[in-house]
Amino acid sequence: MSIIPVPRVAVVVVAAGSGSRLGAGGPKAFVGIDAHTILRHALDGVALAPPAQVVVVVPPGREGDARTEAEAAFGDRASLVSVVAGGTSRQESVAAGLHALWADVEIVLVHDAARALTPADVFARVIDEVRESGAGAIPARPVVDTLKRVEDAAVTAAVDRAPLVAAQTPQGFPRAALEDAYARATDDHTDDAALFAAAGYGVRHVAGSDLAFKITTPADLDRARHLVRGAADRVPVLPRVGIGTDVHAVGGEATLRLAGLEWPGEAGLRGHSDGDAVAHAIVDAVLAAAGLGDIGTHFGVDRPEFAGATGEVFLRRVRELVAEAGFAVGNVSVQVQANRPRFASRRAEAERVLSAALGAPVSVAATTTDGLGFTGSGEGVSATAVALVHPAH
Ligand code: CTP
Ligand code: MG
Repeated sequence: MSIIPVPRVAVVVVAAGSGSRLGAGGPKAFVGIDAHTILRHALDGVALAPPAQVVVVVPPGREGDARTEAEAAFGDRASLVSVVAGGTSRQESVAAGLHALWADVEIVLVHDAARALTPADVFARVIDEVRESGAGAIPARPVVDTLKRVEDAAVTAAVDRAPLVAAQTPQGFPRAALEDAYARATDDHTDDAALFAAAGYGVRHVAGSDLAFKITTPADLDRARHLVRGAADRVPVLPRVGIGTDVHAVGGEATLRLAGLEWPGEAGLRGHSDGDAVAHAIVDAVLAAAGLGDIGTHFGVDRPEFAGATGEVFLRRVRELVAEAGFAVGNVSVQVQANRPRFASRRAEAERVLSAALGAPVSVAATTTDGLGFTGSGEGVSATAVALVHPAH
């Protein structure tokens, strides 16, 4: 397990509300946005923010579910996360979260799980402002609607919106001052900044984010769903192509190995491995398509375990590398330029062997070069491959 330094910052994620306005029939934090819940999305955001102790406050009885979500979001950093039961008001839930803070924590952020899509940079801005000013700090957005003061049905006054902002979370505070403010709070406040200010402490504001909106009503949930789906659509899903070439000089001691086949009676090729230019061109093409470097990256002379290895061994390894990177090979087309050997009678056999090793169809074509160049003179063999890979789902 990696050693994680004790963070001086904590984020209390309040997720203990019932979600009565959403009306989803269960606690809001466990309602799905896509395959993931509101709480999971909120924790994914916290996991991308600067490192912090994380306290998740959930409805009593839902601690185990929250633990599962935290482990999914934080992986091997899940030891940073504690889960506690909340209270009947948001303020009580925050107070329960504050009781779980580690001794070293100096700055506390309180965050609504319901603001599930809050970007990580908002957390960073709030932390920086608290650190620099020593005051509380809230993310805020300009008010866009025109505001009116009303009395029953009558509009009684226009309200200048210039000095107004809309407050979001995470709201950050120096720990000692926040604990003091909570200890002295008598009234119910609408947010932590109000409770903090009521105790006489200063609060500043930094830029919030439109994505930090609070999922309150079914329309808000629809908006979150559209945003998440839009983000998923932007993940690259297109196939990718790559090209590879390899040349080997004729003159090895051993029997020729080319295109995954042995060719008894033919002069061998020189190379670090078996000199199978066809297999090597395919390796380069597939690695390039998957963005994984080239043959030297994975099988170079600094990898003695591949000295003398056959082309098939390389292809099987490439297949694994590509799968680990989340791709699958669509197909490969390779063309050999060589006077000898004559491919015509063994082309289908070469395709079978290469396709089996790579786990995808490989087409082999062979040509001579009309006596021209090093392939025409029989000094060497050249192969060029094009590969297509696609994201494996
Ligand atoms: N919250 C909490 N404990 C409570 C009430 C609210 O932890 N007793 C949390 C909610 O889970 C939410 C945040 O405070 O993440 C903001 O509250 P709100 O959006 O009002 O959520 P709910 O109270 O769940 O919703 P509703 O008011 O519609 O019932
Ligand atoms: Mg509420």
